[in-house]
Amino acid sequence: MLAVIGGSGLSQLANLDVSHREVLRTPYGEPSGAVTFGQICGRPVAFLARHGYGHTIPPHEVNYRANIWALCKRGAVGIISVASVGSIRADFKPGDLVIPHQIIDYTWGRKSTYHEGPDCVVTHIDFTEPYDRALRERLFTAAAAAGIAVSRSAVYAATQGPRLETAAEIDRLERDGADVVGMTGMPEAALARELGMPYAAISVVSNYAAGRADSRDGISFESIQGVLHESMGHVRTLIEKMVGCGDPTRT
Ligand code: HPA
Repeated sequence: MLAVIGGSGLSQLANLDVSHREVLRTPYGEPSGAVTFGQICGRPVAFLARHGYGHTIPPHEVNYRANIWALCKRGAVGIISVASVGSIRADFKPGDLVIPHQIIDYTWGRKSTYHEGPDCVVTHIDFTEPYDRALRERLFTAAAAAGIAVSRSAVYAATQGPRLETAAEIDRLERDGADVVGMTGMPEAALARELGMPYAAISVVSNYAAGRADSRDGISFESIQGVLHESMGHVRTLIEKMVGCGDPTRT
């Protein structure tokens, strides 16, 4: 079963034929909300709204550990994270879909590992490639089949939020090598890796980052909402193709 974690602009999957919802408890507390189970083109899919169904949980207060744990325990074999990002590069425009290949983590103070506590043995994970290669390939194949343009590489900077960045901070992220900036990519990706769960991300460019292009003098929240609404249609199509809708060889 594929699981989708939806961020801002994707608090439900309209194409999911819902069978039931489950409120799950984990050793790490409660996930952001009930997990919705159902089918897309007859294939099982689970969905969780990262910020809660009423969009009440800010990025730094999301219980990432509980979310990933719950999806893992309920049988997910891969997680697709969907999240809006700001674009640091001129050629990533609002509305574009980007499949990042790397992460730089600037977050702090978040519960970012399962390997802590009194009885824990010190454990390190390899995180050289933070996203699952095979899952990313499936996204590329799905995008090609659906005729949806996606950028195949980008360095994702995870910032703390909930405020947006200053223009100088964006300049610094660019010097560091980042292409897009968002607030929820970490520790989510690392926690999935700790559990051995394949994880990949679809970054939806909702705006130019602070100080860039039409965000030179500030970021317009109104235009972000409009962009997200349109792009999430492409995201839903991408997920449909990914699970095999319209593919006669997949029964
Ligand atoms: N910065 C950080 N996170 C974001 C942005 C941004 O500009 N846009 C959407 N999520």
